[in-house]
Amino acid sequence: MLTVNTGDILREQGEGKGEGNGEGKGEGKGEGKGKGEGVGVGVGVGNTALLEAKLGSAHESLRRGTCAGAAFTQWLTWPQAYDRDEYRRIKSAAGRIQAEAKALVVVGIGGSYLGTRAVVECLASPHYNLLPKTTPDIFFAGNCLSAAHTQEVFDLIGDRDYAVCVVSKSGTTTEPAAAFRLFRAHLEAKYGKQGARGRIYAVTDRERGALKALADKEGYETFVIPDGTGGRYSVLTPVGLLPIAVAGIDTDALLAGAGRAMEAWNAADASSLDTNPAWQYAAARHTLYRQKGKCTEILAFYEPRLRFLGEWWKQLMGESEGKELGGIFPATADLTADLHSMGQYIQQGLRNLMETVLLIDEADTPLAIPYDPDDADGLNFLAGKTLHDINRRAFEGTYLAHTDGGAPNIVIRVPRLDAYHLGGLLYFFMLSCALSCLMLGINPFDQPGVEDYKTNMFALLDKPGYEAEGARLRGRL
Ligand code: PA5
Repeated sequence: MLTVNTGDILREQGEGKGEGNGEGKGEGKGEGKGKGEGVGVGVGVGNTALLEAKLGSAHESLRRGTCAGAAFTQWLTWPQAYDRDEYRRIKSAAGRIQAEAKALVVVGIGGSYLGTRAVVECLASPHYNLLPKTTPDIFFAGNCLSAAHTQEVFDLIGDRDYAVCVVSKSGTTTEPAAAFRLFRAHLEAKYGKQGARGRIYAVTDRERGALKALADKEGYETFVIPDGTGGRYSVLTPVGLLPIAVAGIDTDALLAGAGRAMEAWNAADASSLDTNPAWQYAAARHTLYRQKGKCTEILAFYEPRLRFLGEWWKQLMGESEGKELGGIFPATADLTADLHSMGQYIQQGLRNLMETVLLIDEADTPLAIPYDPDDADGLNFLAGKTLHDINRRAFEGTYLAHTDGGAPNIVIRVPRLDAYHLGGLLYFFMLSCALSCLMLGINPFDQPGVEDYKTNMFALLDKPGYEAEGARLRGRL
């Protein structure tokens, strides 16, 4: 497991010679040296001593629970401290859903949905529902207010047996609440109130919120979103684990990978840029942002099954860091597809970009280009090469082009895309994100800006208690 890959390509090409200047010594640390849990980062990180001091104090405040938003740091130890009894209940509920349903509708938005979809797409498939399989199809609803999308989920389920997993920490978010009302009504019409009760699973707060009250009243099986974990840090809690287990994914391995990462990267001897990939990543983006004005970060990947991991990452980074008129704007690029669209901008647009490339080292299939004696398409120079190798050359070529064009690259390498390594990677991003925010003096765990639109929407929808605000807002439209 302790595969460390620190971006040899980058070293060979002279990248990572250090971004640090103006903050002390000015000589950067040029090589990613992570002895990580299967995640290595290759990048120049800047003034090592100063960055290590900042990271040390950020990490210490996180570990000790003295940082901003400290009440929401339960995710830090969760991969080992999770509730074993509840985990057993999750597995048995997943088994029941698999036995009784041909489809599961996961109702939730933001942190109550993106992590689940990311893991399912990474480890099962982006085309999971189209695959021949013994596990239920999984549909996502309540992540938008589109009538067409919601109706389509009903249509795709058809008359098949299904279950619903509704996820909402607050229990009051409009999108999932509205979708859940629709699916609950449909289930009750289909199975009767009692039958529906056995097919609804609620993942919500331990005691607060409308969903919790409804679940208690109706007798739904409930699972708890831990008090000390915000939505975007909750993928390894029941929020993600129940639907992920329904998809037949190895949740033990997912938690084990995160748990190993947690142990390794929070250990005392990991308080160093030499040994801690989460520190390296946080240091690199901090340096590029603060020293070089790179205020947009593009997470680029060469594997389409990472697309929703990118969506999850965007929420994690954007909602955690984008505050107080600052923070790095997170975007994604699905390569090589986006090289034929976004690539132009990355190469020659505004030079405020950094690119973080998420590389999966191991090919999961040996698919290779066949030899063609006619060679009418002129492709015999690729004959015998695997698509994975060709993809790797695409990365190398792109890396050279983009760095030549002034878009510095951070490279995160993961040995393979399995549950264990994905668990470690999820933890890696959450830890790096929290450290990045704390280095900037930002609370990583609140989202005051998200509340503003919710309040406006409630007012415009005439929610009781918001009437005066509604009238005022309508006057502005
Ligand atoms: O990260 C967060 O806290 C948010 O994205 C929430 O997950 C999102 O707003 C959904 O909230 P809730 O789970 O309360 O419905």
